[in-house]
Amino acid sequence: MHVAQSLSSLRLDTASPTPLFRQLYEAIKGAILSGQINPGMQLPPTREFALILGVSRQTVLNAFSQLTAEGFLSGTTGKGTFVSENLPISSNRNLPGSTMPPPALRPLSGRGQRFVGQETFLNTHNGIPKAFRIGMPGIDVFPFDIWARLEARRWRRPDYQLGYGDPAGYRPLRELLAAYLRASRGVHCSPEQVIVTSGSQQALFLIASLLLSPDDAAWVENPGYQGTNAVLHAAQARVCAVPVDDQGICVSLGIENHPDAKLAYVTPSHQYPLGVTMSLQRRLELLDWAARNKMWVVEDEYDSEYRYTGRPLASLQSLDKAGCVIYVGSLSKVLFPALRLGYLVVPPSLADAFARGKAVLDRHTPSVPQAVLADFIAEGHFIRHIRRTREVYGERRAALMEALDTQLADEMQMGPTDAGLHLTVALKRNHNDRAVVQAALQQGVEARALSQFYATRDHAASGLLLGFAAVAPPQIRHGVAILRTVLKS
Ligand SMILES: Cc1ncc(COP(=O)(O)O)c(C=O)c1O
Repeated sequence: MHVAQSLSSLRLDTASPTPLFRQLYEAIKGAILSGQINPGMQLPPTREFALILGVSRQTVLNAFSQLTAEGFLSGTTGKGTFVSENLPISSNRNLPGSTMPPPALRPLSGRGQRFVGQETFLNTHNGIPKAFRIGMPGIDVFPFDIWARLEARRWRRPDYQLGYGDPAGYRPLRELLAAYLRASRGVHCSPEQVIVTSGSQQALFLIASLLLSPDDAAWVENPGYQGTNAVLHAAQARVCAVPVDDQGICVSLGIENHPDAKLAYVTPSHQYPLGVTMSLQRRLELLDWAARNKMWVVEDEYDSEYRYTGRPLASLQSLDKAGCVIYVGSLSKVLFPALRLGYLVVPPSLADAFARGKAVLDRHTPSVPQAVLADFIAEGHFIRHIRRTREVYGERRAALMEALDTQLADEMQMGPTDAGLHLTVALKRNHNDRAVVQAALQQGVEARALSQFYATRDHAASGLLLGFAAVAPPQIRHGVAILRTVLKS
């Protein structure tokens, strides 16, 4: 087929914002790459081509010149322009009617498959919050006006470095976080031990990558947080599910079944997803085993700011004498998840390694949100926001508990209710919790099935996780009424 014939169907769009020469360049490049015109073929002389296309000769010259610079075309003045001979392109590829199969997809590596294999972790939630969205704070009470003012001020006077920053994070923020954690959770730390991360997910990823070798055993709570399981699978660790009872992770079972574990991941303030607080006895048992067996303990305090009754127990990190606890925190609950800010407190001996690891991952977490957060904390807005949201979420929690009590007491058994942003309920009759979640979703109500959080389905309890922070009491009551219709149908 002659080139002019091949390109005869070419139409350039004069109304398009893309310049005509660019459209022509794309069209010829596409024709070469798809095998419509082959190496060695001659293109029409520029004047003639311009006439055929109804464009200026300059448009054709510009397109040819770009294609020549990129090696698709070659030619000398007077001799004409040709599709380059030495392009590694086989002729007649992907022509309509061609029998050549599409190129085979390359499979992921074994490591890659483990990296992305945790399907249950792929939940995104955006849009207007609904009852009973999990993991979502009440953005209706977030002081966006203040945040916007602080951010605008930072951009007006970007007096901090706009080049590559400290991989461990913006120093003033690390100082403020260290002071906050010392005062609120008794965490023993200096700013040097604080590493700012892009959410606690990245903190967990760093921990697994830096502290575990392939096939090392790691305890996780069962039921437990899927974000951690995903990270441990990605690190090629052996994930050892250890049951949780009403005192938290059953340390003795962990010791009995997986004594060689190098790491234990726990959520002691508010076990995810059951909501249990780890007893002091278990905390001491865990720390004692970890110290004697050189096991790391990862303490994930993702929502410890929210406790509605009783006093919080001391953090594991504050009780640790052997330097085996790594403390992980998140701003996702106390501010909002899309901010992607979290932090780690590591023993002093690991601070340098974690900063280097963080640099390898992404150099550092974006500087501007870190600086804005530092201002937000330094000017007192952070503590005010925590106080205010504690009150608001306390009301939302009370509305949910009351509605469940009056409308669904015969269907559900409430789990612990003294902390966090969600309530976990067990389903009394033999309901399939995943089917209940699907049916509720059809009626505009979100919930998560408790059985999803278990390592295996055989011993999974049936229940629902109901987030109460994201919406106001009337929506909560409406949501419970819908759950009632679903469970009674
Ligand atoms: C147990 C647990 N840890 C951490 C997080 C927060 O993760 P991130 O800071 O990556 O948003 C969550 C969020 O739902 C969680 O449930």
